[in-house]
Amino acid sequence: MEIAECCAGRKPWPLLIHGSAGVGKTCAALCVCDHCHGRYAYYDMGELADQLRQAKLGELEWSGTHDFCRVSPAHFWESWRELALAVIDEIAATTKVKDHPYDTLKAAMENRYSKPLILISNANLNEIARAYDDRIASRLSEGTVVELVGPDRRINRQGC
Ligand SMILES: Nc1ncnc2c1ncn2[C@@H]1O[C@H](COP(=O)(O)OP(=O)(O)O)[C@@H](O)[C@H]1O
Ligand SMILES: [Mg+2]
Repeated sequence: MEIAECCAGRKPWPLLIHGSAGVGKTCAALCVCDHCHGRYAYYDMGELADQLRQAKLGELEWSGTHDFCRVSPAHFWESWRELALAVIDEIAATTKVKDHPYDTLKAAMENRYSKPLILISNANLNEIARAYDDRIASRLSEGTVVELVGPDRRINRQGC
């Protein structure tokens, strides 16, 4: 499967997993996280944009070994670049994203250039181009695009 090919380095990053609700996109990405040997991060797009907003306002704090430390946007992206794997879920939850989420996704992709990055969306590449723009869609198309198809597993009530 293409997800495994990407993880094996035979297909380019980023990996876009798209498909309708309930087909198992989030579960598939979390399975990749489970098999990741280094530090990984999983964010919902809204949550990632919120963290960056807080970092810009000087209000983002992460717990360190002894204390909390304030995280600037530069520090946030430095840590982001060092991850073994980064996942952003629900990248196009609205049909037209605002400036801040747009800038966040653009920076998130630039700071993971050719590094393991999984993006997840119910929207396909054309719909993502409409929600963001052609530049974001073009960068996604330079990577690996996988459509997951199948029934809504939530309705069928099967486990992960
Ligand atoms: N490979 C799978 N086999 C069985 N159930 C699965 C599988 N992948 C996901 N599920 C289940 O299907 C439901 C929807 O999965 P999820 O990954 O949240 O879908 P999506 O992110 O595409 O909306 C969850 O309840 C999950 O436990
Ligand atoms: Mg999901």
